[in-house]
Amino acid sequence: MGSMKRIIAGLLFLLASSVITSLVLAIFSLSTNCPQTTIYKIENEQSSWGPHRLAVIVPFRDRFEELLQFVPHIHHFLNEQKIKHTIYVINQVDKLRFNRASLINVGHLLSRKDCDYLAMHDVDLLPLNPKLNYSYPENGPFHVASPEFHPKYHYSTFVGGILLLTREQFELVNGLSNRYWGWGLEDDEFFARMKEAKLNISRPHNINSGIHNTFRHLHDRSIRRRDTARLFNQKEATRKRDRLTGLADVQYDLVSTQHITIDLAPIILHNIKLICNYSLTPWCEHKTGNTKKVAK
Ligand SMILES: *[C@@H]1O[C@H](CO)[C@@H](O)[C@H](O)[C@H]1NC(C)=O
Ligand SMILES: *[C@@H]1O[C@H](CO)[C@@H](O)[C@H](O)[C@H]1NC(C)=O
Ligand SMILES: *[C@@H]1O[C@H](CO)[C@@H](O)[C@H](O)[C@H]1NC(C)=O
Repeated sequence: MGSMKRIIAGLLFLLASSVITSLVLAIFSLSTNCPQTTIYKIENEQSSWGPHRLAVIVPFRDRFEELLQFVPHIHHFLNEQKIKHTIYVINQVDKLRFNRASLINVGHLLSRKDCDYLAMHDVDLLPLNPKLNYSYPENGPFHVASPEFHPKYHYSTFVGGILLLTREQFELVNGLSNRYWGWGLEDDEFFARMKEAKLNISRPHNINSGIHNTFRHLHDRSIRRRDTARLFNQKEATRKRDRLTGLADVQYDLVSTQHITIDLAPIILHNIKLICNYSLTPWCEHKTGNTKKVAK
């Protein structure tokens, strides 16, 4: 009888330990199924990196996937060049149409006391060639995203994508026009401002990586149509040089500010509600549709 009890106890023990072993294995395999993300080794900036500080200004709305790739990449890229910098994501949270130019004006106002130059930077354009120089542009605006190497835009007066200016240069031209709600053309008007102010725009040279390997152009997987609608007299009004609006009259509310890190790279995210001057730019709202017509 005694030996029978011992055998049963032994069997129970074996059963219990195999259950525990398989539980442990299951938990372990679950944890190893979790994909490893890229962890950048990010060095802290040093005071020996020089007197200047760059504000990377990213006008933003909705492109979260692109932001997740952009932020660690640009932070690492600038650290490699020993460029002191702060990344400002200017997130438009109102219901108006996207206004890239006004967001950059706001970004400048919110960063100007901490940074003495700025990069107007698209979130979907990653610099790859380490020779693309982001240092202080003392001789005039420096257009990093040269049409010679940009994956998409090749006209000679193109100044979009990535453009560096000192605080003084940006203020000299009164920033960017606030008239451009929706997509496109604000860069061309900004080119006219810089030309009129006789600023010397320069671009990278001695770059051998060509159109395909100088930048990476991110493509959002959820294909989003750009808002290219031209409402009211928007087309004619935004074709002219705007001597009225800019940095001095951009109107906005700063809703909140958040400090976030993405793969150890820090950003300052400002949530902004732009305020529209309806008499000047009635096209700042999305078209409400043809509901009236249908009702008739
Ligand atoms: C960028 O330009 C500055 C000033 O001309 C120079 O000192 C620096 O070495 C350059 N950096 C790169 C990465 O070419
Ligand atoms: C632009 O460059 C020219 C010639 O190098 C120089 O004379 C002029 O002062 C520069 N303009 C500005 C605004 O720096
Ligand atoms: C809107 O623009 C008009 C025309 O330029 C200007 O006279 C007016 O002061 C602006 N309104 C506001 C609230 O800024």
